[in-house]
Amino acid sequence: MKTVFVLGCVLAAGVAVLLAQMGPQHGRMMGGRMGMMHGFRPLPASFENEANPETESKVELGRMLYFEKRLSKSGQVSCNSCHDLATYGVDNQATSTGHNGQKGSRNSPTVYNAAGEFAQFWDGRAQTVEEQAKGPMLNPVEMALVSGDEAAAILKRYPEYVKRFGEAFPGEADPVTFDNAARAIGAFERKLVTPSKWDRFLKGDQDALTEQERMGFHTFMHTGCASCHSGTLVGGGSFQKLGAEKAYPDSSDTGRHQVTKNAQDRMMFKVPSLRNVEKTGPYFHNGKVGKLEEAVAQMAEYQLGTKLKQEEVESIVAWLKTLTGAPPAELIREPKLP
Ligand code: HEC
Ligand code: HEC
Repeated sequence: MKTVFVLGCVLAAGVAVLLAQMGPQHGRMMGGRMGMMHGFRPLPASFENEANPETESKVELGRMLYFEKRLSKSGQVSCNSCHDLATYGVDNQATSTGHNGQKGSRNSPTVYNAAGEFAQFWDGRAQTVEEQAKGPMLNPVEMALVSGDEAAAILKRYPEYVKRFGEAFPGEADPVTFDNAARAIGAFERKLVTPSKWDRFLKGDQDALTEQERMGFHTFMHTGCASCHSGTLVGGGSFQKLGAEKAYPDSSDTGRHQVTKNAQDRMMFKVPSLRNVEKTGPYFHNGKVGKLEEAVAQMAEYQLGTKLKQEEVESIVAWLKTLTGAPPAELIREPKLP
C-alpha cells in the first residue's frame, strides 16, 4: 500500500512539473478540470492475473503456441500471422486475412499491452486474454479448427508439447487441454508490455520528452481526447460511442450492439489503447484510415465536434509517438517448435 502511495506522489509531482512548464494558465486548467483524474501511469512489468500465475515454463509454452501454425485447419495460420510480434503486434492490413485467404471484417488490434485492457475485441466480447485466445482458433475465417478437442488432439501428437504442458500445469492428470493452451498463450501475452519514453517521463525523467512532445500532450488534454483515452494504456478502459458528437458515416458494424443487442450499445466500441499507435495502422475497427494524422483529425470531428488546425494535429501526433515502445527482443523471438 505504501509503495503505491509513494508512487502516486512521484507521478503527481511529475505531472505537476509538466503542468508548470506549460504555463500557469494551462497548469491551472489542467490541474483543476482534468489534472490527475485521467490516471496516466507507467506500464507495469507485466499484467499479472492471479487466476493464471506466470511461470517461466508456462510463458515459454505460450510463446510456442503463439507461433504454432499447426493449430489451424490449413496449417498455415498462427496468432503471429495477424499479430506479428516483429511489427508491433499487428498485420498492418485494413482487415486481416485468415483461413483460405478469407478476409475478416475488422482490423486486427495489437496484442502488445492488450492484457491490460478492461475487455478484449473491438466489441469487448471477451474479458481476458485467456478467454480471448480460444476465439481465433475456432473462428472459421481465422484458424478454423472444429473444436477445442481438435486443438488438444493436435498438440498431443508431439511428445515435446506433452512434456511442456506437464511442466507448465504440474499435478494435472491430463494437462494437454484447449483451456490450458489458452492459459499458456494468455500468460505469454501478459508479458507483452512496451515501455516507452512516456513511461520514463512519468517516472520522473523530465528530459525524456522534448518540448514539442510535451506541448503535444497539452494539446491532447486541451482538445479533450483524454475524456476517453486515459489511464496507463491511454485507452482500453471503456466503451464509447463512435460518432459521439457527429454521426459516423459507416454504420455497417454496430460494435458492442452486436454482442448485447441493446439499442443503446449501437456504435459503441472499446476505446483502443493508444500505446504504439504510431505503428499499428491502418486505424479504426474497419481499418479505413491509413494515416495517423487523419485518424486524429477524424477523432476531433466525430468524437468532440471540433476541427483541429494542422499544427494541432501535428502536435498531438508528436506526443502519440512517445507512446511507441518495445518488449524485450528475447521474449518475442520466434521459438523452435517440435
Ligand atoms: C486471421 C487473423 C487473426 C488470427 C489468426 C488471430 N487474430 Fe487475434 N484478432 C484478429 C482480429 C481481426 C481481431 C479483432 C476482432 C474483433 O474485435 O472482433 C483480433 C483480436 C485479438 C485480441 C484483442 C485485442 C484487443 O485490443 O481487443 C487479442 C488479444 C488477440 N486477437 C490475440 C490473438 C491470439 C492469441 C491469437 C492466436 C490464438 C490470434 N489473436 C489469432 C485477427 C486475428
Ligand atoms: C468520446 C470518446 C472519444 C474521444 C473524446 C476520443 N476518442 Fe479516439 N477513439 C474512441 C473510440 C471509441 C475509438 C475506436 C473507434 C472505432 O471503432 O474504430 C477511438 C479510436 C482512436 C484512434 C484509432 C486507434 C486505432 O488503433 O485504430 C486514435 C488514433 C484516436 N482514437 C485518437 C484520439 C484523439 C487524438 C482524440 C482527441 C482529438 C480522441 N481520440 C478522442 C473514443 C474517443
